[in-house]
Amino acid sequence: MKILLFKIYWDEEDIEMVNSVIRSGAYWTTGPKVEEFEKMISEYIGTKYCVTFNSGTSALQSILLAYGIKEGDEVIVPSFTFIATANAPLFVGAKPIFADIEEKTFGLDPEDVKKKITKKTKAIIPIHYGGCPCLIRELKEIAEDHNLMLIEDAAESLGAKIKDKKVGTFGDSAMFSFCQNKIITTGEGGCIVTDSKEVCEKLKLIRSHGRRENSNYFTTSEYLDYVTLGYNFRMSDIIAALGIAQLKKIDKIIEMRRKNAEYVTNKLSKIDVIITPNPPEDYFHVYQMYTIRVKEGERMRDDLMKYLAEKGIATKVYFYPVHLTQFYKREFGYKGGELPTTEELADQVLTLPMYPTLTEEEIEYIIREINAFNIKAKNR
Ligand SMILES: Cc1ncc(COP(=O)(O)O)c(C=O)c1O
Repeated sequence: MKILLFKIYWDEEDIEMVNSVIRSGAYWTTGPKVEEFEKMISEYIGTKYCVTFNSGTSALQSILLAYGIKEGDEVIVPSFTFIATANAPLFVGAKPIFADIEEKTFGLDPEDVKKKITKKTKAIIPIHYGGCPCLIRELKEIAEDHNLMLIEDAAESLGAKIKDKKVGTFGDSAMFSFCQNKIITTGEGGCIVTDSKEVCEKLKLIRSHGRRENSNYFTTSEYLDYVTLGYNFRMSDIIAALGIAQLKKIDKIIEMRRKNAEYVTNKLSKIDVIITPNPPEDYFHVYQMYTIRVKEGERMRDDLMKYLAEKGIATKVYFYPVHLTQFYKREFGYKGGELPTTEELADQVLTLPMYPTLTEEEIEYIIREINAFNIKAKNR
């Protein structure tokens, strides 16, 4: 491929920060850099607490455990997401209940969410798709009206906001992922942000064997008791050091992504077979992904994907619906037709290359080739 789907934005400071932890010869697992990274994230988002994890997936599992969600409970999730959102309730024995999405932000449709609430519903986990906030204010109202936990899956949307309020501050808690294609990355990693001290303390127990860590386990001689069941879901200091260096660059990274996205939208919105991203007013989209819709649906979308691949341009379908994966069809009996908007959009979406250092020349090449495809399609 000449143009990749994403490229990580990194600099010498990333290397230096990782090297400094390695050179210290101590704290290669959890240590002071984890605490510093957590403090920086909570300050950046505007929450009281942040607890890091070794992935966004383990962070989601942990927050459901912290809220005591268990067998017999239902959690409303989108199917138009990465599978981990829907799997998280299953990890704790609860059932994921899929609600449909709306076309403005590709997030959960508040009207359909209302229809899916039962006596067993305990939480809603909306996602902010590809860097665009979902209709989170409307979902917050529903959660409050029905006394449900609202957990934002903000894996893809660090830095996105509505007016001046960042995603991650709307729900009772929120998850961010630092996997390699995200806004900032530590290779693998994730976190939960929340304003609840109680939840923060529970999360710290869950991520480290249920051990009450009044001091650093590895350096203290003190006995630290094990007070609950826990896992090893910790982030290491090497990873956190990289996170610190990455987070320092976030404003610049987001600005570069937004500038590139604006450039692409200006050009692509003239092509009539395509719908470009169009976030609602006051929504600050950070373009972790740049996803277009091919109006005619799956066949033309797949043709475009193939055509661009032949020209060396990588694209991908984010997402095929979770309820139509082999696992969910087998386990829950989904057959298709259950979530009309999800299924229609999943047939139309195509994610184009988008990253901070995408050059004007590369963007022009992508646009030229999409135009060429459009002309060919029209002449068919
Ligand atoms: C919407 C969404 N939820 C959850 C995850 C899982 O995060 P991670 O890959 O860090 O486990 C991802 C990222 O891959 C995601 O995009």
